[in-house]
Amino acid sequence: MSTGRHNASITVLGIETSCDETAAALVRRGADGRGRILSNVVRSQLDLHAAYGGVVPEIAARAHVELLDAAIKQSLAEAGLGFDAIDAVAAAAGPGLVGGLIVGVTTAKAIALAAGVPFIAVNHLEAHALTPGLTDALGFPYLLLLVSGGHTQLLIVKDVGAYERLGTTLDDALGEAFDKAAKLLGLGYPGGPEVEREAARGRAVIPLPRPMLGRPEPHFSLAGLKTALRHAAQARAPLSERDIADLCASFQEAVADIVSDRTARAFELYAERLGPNAQKALVVAGGVAANKRLKLALEAVAGAHGFRLIVPPPELCTDNAAMIAWAGAMRLARGLTDDLSAPARARWPLDPDAPPALGAGVKA
Ligand code: KG4
Ligand code: ZN
Repeated sequence: MSTGRHNASITVLGIETSCDETAAALVRRGADGRGRILSNVVRSQLDLHAAYGGVVPEIAARAHVELLDAAIKQSLAEAGLGFDAIDAVAAAAGPGLVGGLIVGVTTAKAIALAAGVPFIAVNHLEAHALTPGLTDALGFPYLLLLVSGGHTQLLIVKDVGAYERLGTTLDDALGEAFDKAAKLLGLGYPGGPEVEREAARGRAVIPLPRPMLGRPEPHFSLAGLKTALRHAAQARAPLSERDIADLCASFQEAVADIVSDRTARAFELYAERLGPNAQKALVVAGGVAANKRLKLALEAVAGAHGFRLIVPPPELCTDNAAMIAWAGAMRLARGLTDDLSAPARARWPLDPDAPPALGAGVKA
């Protein structure tokens, strides 16, 4: 079905409540297909969860209820627009914490109904995947490395709605591994920035394993690395500041090696699947993309394989509603809208046909 909207400029309100950010944004997609962010409001709940060392689903859902209306109001005010200027309302409908998702989806449906415009249920992962179209006007296809607190995936992004998952994690997500490493070393939450800061003062001299290196499928496994870090820390207890910095540097170095190796394998598979003439671009998204050591490692491995590295700005790499609005605009331009019975989904894989990660040659 086509709405014929591909010839017109469209403005979409986006809502994001899948984890611990309450966010609302307005994005305009021009007739030329280029995107422009009119407002991008993010209310972090970090303070509410920090004491627990992680996101508490019930606290997150309640906070979304309290924060969302104001975030939407602010996004309209900053864009200088009213509800009458909106062509569609898009909300992250999964995957994520279902209590929070329901808050965003229900609010979006109510606004869409009241304003008489379509509702669009956006896959949160698809929104991360499509962000480079907004930030860099990047065309399809490209390889996406998504590394956040909840996800670690290597995907071929072929088109809107067309994804091939090459690799995923068998256990912890990469950001989660940073968070757990920080916790066991007595550092704060979220752990990634803390570990990176300590690592900058340390030496990567402590031997740690690099699980999955050289495996034919570009999957990840981080639980063994975390356990090895714990053992290394216990062996040195009580830890001096020097020990903590060295442990962080060694951990971060192991992660850089793992990610480089797995991404290099994904480059080969990308070329095998799409042929030698396909656009060679690697996009990195998710909170872990902020890590400078990782970025350097990815720059090197991308360069060696002739791939361009694209890292959207940090505020669009981490969870935000501009990416939801943009994904909604791209879907609307193709006539892809949802009816008001569309559910919130805790699980929603981008590539439902991907073979299970625990396949041939991979030990559980
Ligand atoms: O994308 P994000 O903001 O939220 C979701 O998980 O959806 O990612 C947060 C994750 C946390 O696990 C955090 O520790 C990690 O990204 N992170 C980092 C860095 N900054 C944030 N990990 C490593 N190095 C960093 N500089
Ligand atoms: Zn995310």
